[in-house]
Amino acid sequence: MPGRLITFEGVEGCGKTTQLRLLANHLQRRGVPVVTTREPGGTPLGERVRELLLDPRIVPAPAAELFLFEAARAQVVAEVIVPALAAGTTVLADRFSDSSLAYQGGARGLPGEIVARLNELACGGLAPDRTLVFDLEVELAFGRARRRPSTTPENSRFEDEALAFHQAVAEAYRALARREPRRVAIVDARGTPEEVHERTRAAVADLFP
Ligand code: TYD
Repeated sequence: MPGRLITFEGVEGCGKTTQLRLLANHLQRRGVPVVTTREPGGTPLGERVRELLLDPRIVPAPAAELFLFEAARAQVVAEVIVPALAAGTTVLADRFSDSSLAYQGGARGLPGEIVARLNELACGGLAPDRTLVFDLEVELAFGRARRRPSTTPENSRFEDEALAFHQAVAEAYRALARREPRRVAIVDARGTPEEVHERTRAAVADLFP
């Protein structure tokens, strides 16, 4: 079976990282070779970029922020994702190009077509086989994110953005799903992790016949 690229998207606190882990375990139990990656991060270069982006003392201009995300993305594509797919390994990515479309484009207001072009350059034309958008009312997602131990004042620049910003992110994701319904699946992220896991499995079932 060819390796598949499945990306996990959504607002902070939507539970995508937990669902990524559950799906990775499920696929591995079925004998599917899997690697996982995250953005920004996933490579030594990407992890250094991540430190920059999450440092509250550094406030990048919107375009600079976009370039940093794209730099981390270009590196993880070249170093991890392309070699894994070539070896027949399925890649589960915690955030990918649609994060830039939703955050830097939809919410931060950078032109969507420029973000899309930079995504193409960073991804070398590679597109996800399936993108799962974990959809949760922003107020609920915020409640979850606040309970996370990692959400300390030091790394909460993104989490502290206004509610309206996150609502714009959520709406941008829904618009992506409407535009590309075959690739982008909305997964209802309400309920227990097990309930959401069932929906996640259903949303990728056709990729693993
Ligand atoms: P992270 O701690 O990974 O948050 P989460 O657990 O919600 O994924 O921080 C990543 C932050 O970076 C998150 O707020 C979304 C943002 N982001 C963008 O704005 N654009 C991007 O292209 C990516 C990959 C992330």
